[in-house]
Amino acid sequence: MIGSKEGIAHFPLAFLNPGEYSLVPDPCYPPYKGSTIFAGGKIHLMPLLEENAFLPDLKKIPSGVLKKARIIFLNYPNNPTGATADRGFYREVINFARKHKLIVISDLAYSEMAYDGYRPASMLEIEGARDSVIEFHSLSKSYNMTGWRIGWASGNSQLVGALAKVKSNIDSGIFSAIQLAGIAALEGPQKHIQEMSALYQERRDTLVSGLKSLGWQLISPRATFYLWIKVPKKTDSIKFASLLMEKAGIVVTPGVGFGKHGEGYIRMALTVPKQRIIEALSRLKKIS
Ligand SMILES: Cc1ncc(COP(=O)(O)O)c(C=O)c1O
Repeated sequence: MIGSKEGIAHFPLAFLNPGEYSLVPDPCYPPYKGSTIFAGGKIHLMPLLEENAFLPDLKKIPSGVLKKARIIFLNYPNNPTGATADRGFYREVINFARKHKLIVISDLAYSEMAYDGYRPASMLEIEGARDSVIEFHSLSKSYNMTGWRIGWASGNSQLVGALAKVKSNIDSGIFSAIQLAGIAALEGPQKHIQEMSALYQERRDTLVSGLKSLGWQLISPRATFYLWIKVPKKTDSIKFASLLMEKAGIVVTPGVGFGKHGEGYIRMALTVPKQRIIEALSRLKKIS
C-alpha cells in the first residue's frame, strides 16, 4: 500500500454497503471516518474513555447498530491516546466479531514504537483472528519512511484479496525504488528500532516528568510517540492549543480534532529532539 493510510481509506469500499455501519473509536485517527463516508456507510462512534483505559466498551454498542454493522476499526498502540491493548481485549474483540459477523480492521502503525520492554501484540497472534481480521502495517514510523510511504496488510485472505481488487482499480503500485527500500528496511539489521525506541523513551520521560512537575495530568504512554494530556485550565482544547501557540510558540493538537470524546485533552508528539522538549517545558513554566 501507499502507506497504511491508503489501504485503510480504500478498504471499506470493498465491504461496506451504503447505509451499513462502521464502528469507529472516538477519538481516532481521522481516515476511519472518512473512508466510511466515502463508501456511503454510517459511523457509530465508540467512546474511548480514560476510565476504561481508552478501550471501547463493546457491550455499549446498541443491538440495532450491530445488526447493520460490517466493520470495527481498532488501533492499538493508539493514536491519539497512546493507550495499548492486551491479548485479553483482543480475544474479546475476536469473539465479538464472530458473534456479530464483523470485519476487524486492526491498525498497527505503531507496532515497534514501544518502551520499558513492552512489545505490542499483533491481533493475528490470537487464535481465530484469521476468520475476521485484516491488520494494517506501516514502515512510516518503524523505519522513518514518512516521506516515502509504504505499508502492507495481512490477515484473512479474502479481506486482503478484496483490498487488492479495489486497489488494482485505483493505483498501479508504488514507485519501485521505494519498494526496494522497504525490502531493504525489513531484511536489513533491526538494531535501529531499539535505538529509536530508547531515544523516544528518553524524550517521553523528559516531557512527562516536566509536565507533571507543572501539575499537568497525563498517563505516561508505553507505546506511540504521543502524550495525551488533560487540558490543565478551565477551557476547551482548541482555545488552549491557541493559547500555547500565541503565548509560548508551541504547537499541540487539540483533542477535539480527533473526535468529540477528545475534548478536554491535547496531544503532544515526541518527534522533536530532547533539547527542544526542555525548551518547550521552560516556556510552559513561564506561562503557567
Ligand atoms: C494510527 C495511524 N494509522 C496509520 C497511519 C498512517 O501510516 P502510513 O504512513 O503508513 O500511511 C498513522 C500516521 O500517519 C497513524 O497515526
